[in-house]
Amino acid sequence: MAPKPSLPAVLVLQLQLLLLPGPAPVRSSSPLPLVLNTWPFRNATEAAWKTLALGGSSLDAVEGGCASCEVEQCDGTVGFGGSPDESGETTLDAMLMEGTTMNVGAVGDLRRIKNAIGVARKVLEHTTHTLLVGESATKFAQSMGFVDEDLSTKDSRALHSDWLAQNCQPNYWRNVIPDSSKYCGPYKPRSVFKQDGSIHKETGYGYGHDTIGMVVLDKMGHTAAGTSTNAESETHPYLGQGPTLMTPREPPPPLGTVTY
Ligand SMILES: *[C@@H]1O[C@H](CO)[C@@H](O)[C@H](O)[C@H]1NC(C)=O
Repeated sequence: MAPKPSLPAVLVLQLQLLLLPGPAPVRSSSPLPLVLNTWPFRNATEAAWKTLALGGSSLDAVEGGCASCEVEQCDGTVGFGGSPDESGETTLDAMLMEGTTMNVGAVGDLRRIKNAIGVARKVLEHTTHTLLVGESATKFAQSMGFVDEDLSTKDSRALHSDWLAQNCQPNYWRNVIPDSSKYCGPYKPRSVFKQDGSIHKETGYGYGHDTIGMVVLDKMGHTAAGTSTNAESETHPYLGQGPTLMTPREPPPPLGTVTY
């Protein structure tokens, strides 16, 4: 997972409050149920809301909301067809967390399966793991009945070929030959390791964050939170980063805290 700019502090505080373990206190003035989403992905919010209205749990609602964004490819940063990696493949990351039990299910670098948040739910429910990655995550998804599909689209292929045409700039390599600031790979480690003095800097993304992050409180105050992403290619090209709602600067969070 690459470091990412944080969510605005106010939102972070708000979400942290919402994810305290156990049901949140329900006051008579409490506006529950509640669906919170990081962006105006209206259909995702509505999908979550409808799930609650049909008697679904807050976890069902978060899963449904994020899945809606995966289908709509919200913002190009969620779902298939975005953020191709170096080889041109789109890979997905997702995480779901239940506030009451603090159970977490997550996938990273998931390949060829569109419904990443659905697979994260299966990790939560059917394994003692919290995170499955790469081909192991895909194999797990297949055994849970998910179908293999190509995650590339015309757009993601164009993004990749544009990047190749710009000599693979920008990229995440350093201390390699050929010089990664000028040329494409394949790269090899420099035989004489020479710190090139370059310090990794976030190039900054206009909004400070991306992808969908969602928090739901059902009417009893049970919380659930989730995120689903294909990473964001403009600022973090070809990094294949993990669920990245935010990266709290300190202290290092337990897994799941990143879903705040
Ligand atoms: C939201 O859903 C409506 C109705 O299904 C659809 O027409 C619209 O395109 C969706 N919005 C986005 C941004 O995909």
